[in-house]
Parts: sequence; structure tokens; C-alpha cells
Amino acid sequence: MKKHILVIPGDGIGPEVTTWGKAVLKQIGASFGHEFSFDEALMGHAAIEATGSPLPDETLDKARKSDAILFGAVGHAKYDNDPSAKVRPEQGLLKIRKELGLYANLRPIMLFDELLQASSIKPEILQGTDILFFRELTGDVYFGEKIRSEDRNTASDLMIYHRYEVERIAHKAYQAAQQRSKRLCSVDKANVLESSRLWRETVQEISKLYPDVQTEHMFIDNAAMQLIKNPKQFDVVLTANLFGDILTDEASQIAGSMGMLASASVGESTGFYEPIHGSAHDIAGQNKANPLASILSVALILEIGFGLAEEAKAVVAVVDRALKEGYRTGDIADAATDTNKILGTAEMGALVLGYLQNNQTAN
Ligand code: IPM
Ligand code: MG
Repeated sequence: MKKHILVIPGDGIGPEVTTWGKAVLKQIGASFGHEFSFDEALMGHAAIEATGSPLPDETLDKARKSDAILFGAVGHAKYDNDPSAKVRPEQGLLKIRKELGLYANLRPIMLFDELLQASSIKPEILQGTDILFFRELTGDVYFGEKIRSEDRNTASDLMIYHRYEVERIAHKAYQAAQQRSKRLCSVDKANVLESSRLWRETVQEISKLYPDVQTEHMFIDNAAMQLIKNPKQFDVVLTANLFGDILTDEASQIAGSMGMLASASVGESTGFYEPIHGSAHDIAGQNKANPLASILSVALILEIGFGLAEEAKAVVAVVDRALKEGYRTGDIADAATDTNKILGTAEMGALVLGYLQNNQTAN
């Protein structure tokens, strides 16, 4: 198979983790006889510094011409503490989602048994959890009209949804549910918000087209609580942009660390694949970041983007092997971890790559 991949390393720990995602993808190409070619582009703070724009046109052009995008992270502490900054790194990410029509953000909560102890939730509560989030990604308060009054003392963000936006992501979520355990939970705040009432009404309509899937509706506040209380009750979770942003950070603790979770944003064109962690400036450049989420993002490119299930499995298997052998990065280490097996970013990346090169998986 011949594919062209655009790598956008971005800011903070983005470049150091994405290096390993790219290396793993290259290796898969070599091992399985695929022709993967690569290009690179700027986004976020790195792009603002170089061009003045968080998403230069050149990046968007290259994105449109590629078959998949492997992304790192955007953000910089300097903007977090300066709410008045007009040009911000995150604008690059939001714009590329909108421009490419990436309306469905898939966030699988993949639980490696070896990491049960790394979570702050009790292992017996966690074990067996397997959730696939469908977060809507191009609507909601993220893209609704933003207003600041002239005296600057009043501000609003419009929470807006159109029926077609709910329909198209609901179809994707239901189709995924049909392939899994045929359970779907739609999360909203329909007891208060009109946009959530449209959401619920639309999901109820769509649910009739998938009679084999059992549908449940839950309010966001309750869902946030249930996720910690009894995560196993969830299978496919369908929710809006802002609720999904918050719930999936919460859910990352089920997997032990944000450093383990990958995501796929798909829709009208080229898919966009990224770790769910951010730029983590506090540890950037220190060889401390966990590269496994970027490597697992590559598994999603292979599976969802290219339909290469075997290759995707090979990637997950070598990550599994590293964990089974007891290797950890700092974020997933615990009191029982052999201190000699706590690795830096580069060492963990090289370990996993080495397993692939030698065709060693966890049997
Ligand atoms: C995410 C991030 C982004 C979001 C930020 C960086 C704009 O938190 O992908 O979850 O809020 O969507
Ligand atoms: Mg987020």
C-alpha cells in the first residue's frame, strides 16, 4: 500500500513523542512492505514564531494532500497566562479540525492490564473497562459566536448545534456500536440546555435506525460521576464537543495516564491522529514524556485510516510487550516498578521500535 503521511510535531513535548510515532510507522512500512512517504509542517506556537499564524496555509495545503496526519500537541504556557493574546496556538488545531471537516473525534479508552495499579481508581473497578468515546469536534461553544462587550465586562460563547451535525456523528457512533457490544450512551444536559434537547431528540430519531443497539441517555454531571463509580457500564459514549473534551480527560485516568491515550479525528477528508495529552511544557525537552500515546496513534492511523488491522495489532502488541516486561515512563510508574525499568522518552521509543524490528511481540 502506498500512503503519504503529514507529520505535525507542534509544541512542547509534541516533537519528542511524535519522532517515535513516525519511526514506528516507518518500521511498519518496512516490515509489511508498504510504501509510506512523509512530510512535515508547522502548527501552534512553533508556527506563530516562524510565520505569525498558528496554521499557515502551507500546512493546510499539505494536510489536504496527505492520506493521514500524525500530530503531536499545541500550546505554550505564555498564552495560558495571557488571556488577552489574540493569536493563540490552539487556534491552529481548531482551524484544521474545521477546515478538514473532522467532526468525529474517536477516543478509545484502552486499558492495559499491567497499568491497573497506575490508576488512582481501584483495579477491581477498572478491570475489563473498554470504552470508545465519540466526541463531536466541529460544533458547540468551540465554534459558536464569541462576544465581548465594549466595556469588556461581559462575555459569551454561543453553544450551538445544527441537526445535521448531531446526525452525522450519531451515525458513526451507532455503526461502531454495532461492531462492538451494541450499547451506546449519549451524554448531554437536556434538562437545562436547548442545544442538548436538540441533541437528544436527534439521537432518539437516529436510534430507531439501529434497533439492534441499546441506547441510553445520560446527563453530563451524572456521566462524570458514573465514569469513576462504574466505568464498565459504558461501551460507546456519544457526546458533544465540550462535554467530550472534559469527559475524555477524566476517562484517561482509567487508562492510568493521559500519556497512554491516542485519538482519531475523522470526517469529510484526511484523518488526523494525535495523543490526547497536550504540550506539557513543564516537562518538554527533558526526555520525560511518554511516547506511547503517539505510537498508539499510529496504530489508529493503520487501523482506521488505512484499514490495516494486522499492522495496527502489531503496534499495540509491542507496546503491550514493553509494559509486560515491566518498562515504564515516569507517568505510568508506581511504587512496585523496578527503578531500572523507568525509561525516558527516547529509551521507551527505541525499546518499542526495537521489538518491532526484531518482530518481538507479547505472546
Ligand atoms: C483536546 C484539547 C483541545 C480541545 C485544545 C488544545 C484546544 O484539549 O484536543 O482535547 O479543547 O479540543
Ligand atoms: Mg482536551
